[in-house]
Amino acid sequence: MIDTELLRKPATILIVEDDDASRNGLFEYLNLKGYKVFETDCLKSAFEIFSSTDSGKFTDKIDIIITDLKLPDGTGLDILKAIKEGKIQNADVIVATGYSSVKTAVEAIKLGAYDYITKPVNLEELDLIIKRIISNKSLIDELNILKTRLDEKFNFGNLITSSPKMTAIVDTAIAVSGTNSTVLIEGESGTGKELLANIIVNNSLRKNKPFIKVNCAALSETILESELFGHEKGAYTGADSLYKGRFEMADGGTIFLDEIGEISLKTQSKILRVLQEKEFERVGGSKTIKIDIRIIAASQDIEKKVSKGEFRQDLYYRLNVINLRLIPLRERKEDIPFLIRRFLDDFSSENGKNVTGITKETLDFLLNYDYPGNVRELKNIIEYMTAVSKGGMADESLLPGYLKEKTGSEIKLSGLKSDTFISDVDDFIKIPFGTTLEDAENIIIQKTLEINRFNKAKTANDLKIGLKTIYRKLEKF
Ligand SMILES: Nc1ncnc2c1ncn2[C@@H]1O[C@H](COP(=O)(O)OP(=O)(O)OP(=O)(O)O)[C@@H](O)[C@H]1O
Ligand SMILES: [Mg+2]
Repeated sequence: MIDTELLRKPATILIVEDDDASRNGLFEYLNLKGYKVFETDCLKSAFEIFSSTDSGKFTDKIDIIITDLKLPDGTGLDILKAIKEGKIQNADVIVATGYSSVKTAVEAIKLGAYDYITKPVNLEELDLIIKRIISNKSLIDELNILKTRLDEKFNFGNLITSSPKMTAIVDTAIAVSGTNSTVLIEGESGTGKELLANIIVNNSLRKNKPFIKVNCAALSETILESELFGHEKGAYTGADSLYKGRFEMADGGTIFLDEIGEISLKTQSKILRVLQEKEFERVGGSKTIKIDIRIIAASQDIEKKVSKGEFRQDLYYRLNVINLRLIPLRERKEDIPFLIRRFLDDFSSENGKNVTGITKETLDFLLNYDYPGNVRELKNIIEYMTAVSKGGMADESLLPGYLKEKTGSEIKLSGLKSDTFISDVDDFIKIPFGTTLEDAENIIIQKTLEINRFNKAKTANDLKIGLKTIYRKLEKF
């Protein structure tokens, strides 16, 4: 778990104020509050302090500047300009101003000041502003630290993890990638099975050879058979030309049989033969075709199917030469901040948004949530938050509707257009006039999936349609 407190040290504050009484008052107060405080009475020496902190004469970097607007040798705005032009390092500036110059204070905000306070300074108000700056800052720093660590260590292709157990699994995957052994990847929905299959292939000797993926759950039995094994011309009505199946297409390379647990017993026996003999016949054909392939299979829980007699035990043993079982996200929560960082970066740049980070409350909430849809669900959440964000720090108000209910937040999502279909009141699905039947169907499936936390089997059951249908529809949209 990330210890956010560890990353915090007392903030360093510089006071620039020519009135001795005000400056001393501020100095005493902030000192007592435990901040590290520097003080000066003019612009020139403020810049000097900056250059000495910059050059390393002081070990501290100034985090916050509290500056009077009118100074003997310039104005507080000169500090803002110097920051903007990169002449001094970045710091958050609070401008103190008399009532008469509120207009200039507004100018200061436009120039990039964090906030302004009117004089005489209300010390409690000032402390609140400082606390707000610090809490934003430490989170940004923390995420930047994470980002560096992420780039250095925990990056296996696109797979991100800092969990020792997951790292061990990925290490095994990489170790076996150079062999021709069959691999069975198991794990709940959205845990990264396909991602891991990609990593194995990319690290294998077959990486420049064909890599063919088949989602076995998306196809009906007959279509799956001819997809996998191909068919001869005239094999059945509609088969008006020879079709080379996916096994043939994968010859020399790798085939990924996703959701292999969904295959019928009849097709299972044919696959067993491919595994044992590396040969098969096309549907409607008698010629035996020999191939050289490596098989990677994935399933959510195949053992259960074996025990229920729905999956051949011999095929299971054949597939299960190397078993990689991915861990649910709720059992490796230390990955969550790293994943959030990566997804925020990716979706921000993809959508041209400048989402700088995520507030502490929101991070805490996301750390506590249990992710039935695993990494895919977290990815969807961050994609959603980035899409509806206007930039800056992402907070709880951006969470998708089904999660926001859990935060106990009062804010309603009604203003967010892009959320029309998923943020409605719990039990209703709102479908606007003019929606096509196909779109309406998609909305119903999506909303039901969401309510069922992406549990496809339960969704199929609720909608009284087959699991295969769900997959087919999902693939389509
Ligand atoms: N550790 C990870 N780091 C980064 N992205 C991840 C990680 N794990 C999963 N993802 C992303 O989450 C999404 C779901 O992953 P993937 O499709 O591999 O899961 P799956 O186990 O095959 O799910 P399903 O059973 O639903 O098919 C993908 O977009 C993937 O890139
Ligand atoms: Mg998958």
